[in-house]
Amino acid sequence: MSKTIGMSQRKDIVVTENLQMVYRVGKVEVPALRGVDMTVKEGEFFAVMGPSGCGKSTLLHLIGGLLTPTTGSVKIEGVDLAKVGDAKRTEVRRKKIGFVFQRFNLLPTLSAEGNIELARRIHGNGQGRGSDSTVREILEMLGLEGKLHHRPSELSGGEQQRVAIARAVINRPAILLADEPTGNLDSENSQMVLQMLQDLNQRYKQSIVMITHDPEAASVASRMMEMRDGRVLNRVKNLVYPIEQTTG
Ligand SMILES: Nc1ncnc2c1ncn2[C@@H]1O[C@H](COP(=O)(O)OP(=O)(O)O)[C@@H](O)[C@H]1O
Ligand SMILES: [Mg+2]
Repeated sequence: MSKTIGMSQRKDIVVTENLQMVYRVGKVEVPALRGVDMTVKEGEFFAVMGPSGCGKSTLLHLIGGLLTPTTGSVKIEGVDLAKVGDAKRTEVRRKKIGFVFQRFNLLPTLSAEGNIELARRIHGNGQGRGSDSTVREILEMLGLEGKLHHRPSELSGGEQQRVAIARAVINRPAILLADEPTGNLDSENSQMVLQMLQDLNQRYKQSIVMITHDPEAASVASRMMEMRDGRVLNRVKNLVYPIEQTTG
């Protein structure tokens, strides 16, 4: 028997509370985030929109444990990143979080498949995530007919970013964090990348936070939050009716 689970009953994947970040440059303080509260539920595709400099990347780096907040907290599947030691934080980052950046950051000397395989060997947690069948399915989804052995320089920007996404999700992280994944791409390549993110969200219920300043990119998400000057501009908008999830 199966039952459907509504959004309100879903597990919280990312919760931030009063998240603030002040950068110090010499004696100058740069307030980048001024108190951001947000919740990303399991299976959500959450877009963060806003103009350059409003604090989007800072927010993503805090969620990913790459930066430590000045004030406030980040919880990933209930683990408060500020309350655990460095070793545990590193473990959360490796096992629960996948990153995709504007610059694809693939290793230039490895093939597409080599880049993905390396991530699997380094970060694989041996808990069933990143199993052989998942790897096959993700490579299939990647759809790089005959190009898996090509190096990044032999692929288009959209293809490289798809490889970077495959690499980021190969171990089935709880959350995929994408910072302007289409920022360096023309519209055709952007479409290719957004399609893959949507497929991952719909087929695997992959939870995603995607930063973008492009309204068209944001429109593929299930929810959208706008930022200005380090704050949340409006209430989070539901873009589509939340996707129902079926459990056994
Ligand atoms: N490492 C840093 N040192 C000092 N200021 C920074 C640093 N990173 C970002 N900032 C500043 O913080 C603010 C938010 O930046 P950022 O999070 O990169 O915004 P966005 O990603 O929306 O463009 C900007 O004013 C930016 O100049
Ligand atoms: Mg940015």
